[in-house]
Amino acid sequence: MKKIIGIIVVILSLVLLSGCTNEPAPPIDLPIPDVLTTAEKVQSKIDSMSLHEKVAQMIQAERGYITPEDVEMYGIGSILSGGGSHPSSYLDTANDWYQMYFNYQQSALRSSSEIPIIYGIDAVHGNNNLYGATIFPHNIGLGAANDPELMYEIGKATAEEMLVTGITWTFAPAVSVVSDISWGRTYEGLSENPIIHLNLVQSMILGLQENGVSATAKHFVGDGGTSGGTDQGNVTLDEQTIREIHLAPYYEAIDAGVDTIMISYSSINNMKMHGNDYWINDILKDEMGFEGFIISDWNAIHQLPGDYSDQIVASVNAGVDMLMEPSDWLSALETLEAAVNNGRILESRIDDAVTRILMVKYTRGLIENPFAKLNPETNLYTQEHQDLAREAVRKSLVLLKNEDQALPLEKNQSIYITGPASDNVGYMCGGWTTYWQGNTAARIGVGISIKQAVSNVLGTQSLNLATSWNQADTVIVVLTETPYSEGVGDHDNLTLTTGLSHPENAAALAVAQDAQAAGKNVIGILISGRPLVLGTYLDRFDAFIAAWLPGSEGGSGIADVLFGDYAPTGKLSYSWPKDISQIGYISTYLNYDETFVMFPFGYGLTYA
Ligand code: BGC
Ligand code: BGC
Repeated sequence: MKKIIGIIVVILSLVLLSGCTNEPAPPIDLPIPDVLTTAEKVQSKIDSMSLHEKVAQMIQAERGYITPEDVEMYGIGSILSGGGSHPSSYLDTANDWYQMYFNYQQSALRSSSEIPIIYGIDAVHGNNNLYGATIFPHNIGLGAANDPELMYEIGKATAEEMLVTGITWTFAPAVSVVSDISWGRTYEGLSENPIIHLNLVQSMILGLQENGVSATAKHFVGDGGTSGGTDQGNVTLDEQTIREIHLAPYYEAIDAGVDTIMISYSSINNMKMHGNDYWINDILKDEMGFEGFIISDWNAIHQLPGDYSDQIVASVNAGVDMLMEPSDWLSALETLEAAVNNGRILESRIDDAVTRILMVKYTRGLIENPFAKLNPETNLYTQEHQDLAREAVRKSLVLLKNEDQALPLEKNQSIYITGPASDNVGYMCGGWTTYWQGNTAARIGVGISIKQAVSNVLGTQSLNLATSWNQADTVIVVLTETPYSEGVGDHDNLTLTTGLSHPENAAALAVAQDAQAAGKNVIGILISGRPLVLGTYLDRFDAFIAAWLPGSEGGSGIADVLFGDYAPTGKLSYSWPKDISQIGYISTYLNYDETFVMFPFGYGLTYA
């Protein structure tokens, strides 16, 4: 009652104040008391909504398949950009993105429920779909850096580079614990060992969410634990092991207040996760107390048994709150509504799902400020973000070998640099860069290559790069995998010259051999989404660095370490196998023998 009187007093005084003059009232900053809690606001909103409006909130469409007019007509809850899905061209600017976002958002507010959409995107190493955004190292490198403060800052910077487009939801971080590096998504995972996740997951989520962007912990659960590392495959572990290894990061995510969790395409004992009532409802929501909302993965419910209605019923009843149905969003909406009308899904389940979705929309400020946007001039690829990315690169490099102090390099010497990734920024960024499968272009609008960075350092000594290896004191050879994402990257023959390794690695390795025979100082750098078997090729190098997928500032950060401006500090967050048969032999095993593998979990040299 007091609250209501309070509101009336405020309204009356506003009316009185505005009556004092004929001029339009100046904007008054009178505090309008926030009398309702967010939960109460959400509840009263839901009470006012029709079933149709409510189920619409549970639907997510892909931008390529939905127009602003559709959004106005159906009032759907969310839109996403899939990997590499841009407003019209990969060169679109932040303002182009914002214009697209604005158009959808304006339409959502004109829909009958007047609820803003939440727009989601895979900003998995910076806002990577946006041309001109800072590309941070992929998670495998951040696991090697193992620095919580750095994670927070990257989360914050990523949020800022998203908010220049208006978009407030990222499908990140992947909290996958990766048991088998054959998996094409290995680089999206911080480590094979959840001890690393326990140190890093919270700070990444807080960095995003405290700076205005909803995070997603994905993919629940066991995505990195499938047999043979098969993408979307089957996990055959017992529940205790799943809990200890794969569930562990979700406690961290929930403690950090993560807004959303994405379900995994994979199965546990042949039961698809998207219909897994036990793991989603019983464990994640009831036992662990997750209060945010659950999003399905891209078309993933189509892999459930039965017809479309069965699939929707099974997933929603198992606890999925929002359906990522990129192209089938309209039939998803209609089928979901029909399933409630014919009693296959209770309306209370719908209310629960919509409550969770609206709670996120309210708490992250979408309702109050649906058109919020940061200025690209001061938030996109800023010097600060470049420096941060460069720091992340430096800290993520793992020095695997350094004989006779081959590193660091003197700056006043003759250097020759070769190899397929020596002058290519796209390869350093890997999958989920500009496009879903990555950008293979040598120049991607941001960053400099390793060759450019090394050349810049020599330039400070008025030296040029050598044009043939036999004129040089030091020969740098940069080997690489070619970019991939998701199942496209699944491979079990992971060596420097097989699998998804670049075909030109062989020629570069031949140069290494000749240069070494001629007594040169030979430095190897590997750009890859995972450890690759090195075999005897390693003998051709005096020093060797695992650089992972360092991103746009890879060139600068690698040069910092090559020339000793910074000593390497990165430690392997994955075991490095001696040969193919050791893939899958990892540090979470009981009686893990560090001497068995080539380089164990936790390994990493530094300068003397
Ligand atoms: C991936 C998710 C991603 C989604 C949206 C799926 O194929 O598995 O990680 O968030 O697509 O792009
Ligand atoms: C989309 C990705 C998605 C993938 C799923 C691609 O076409 O761009 O975002 O993860 O399909 O297979």
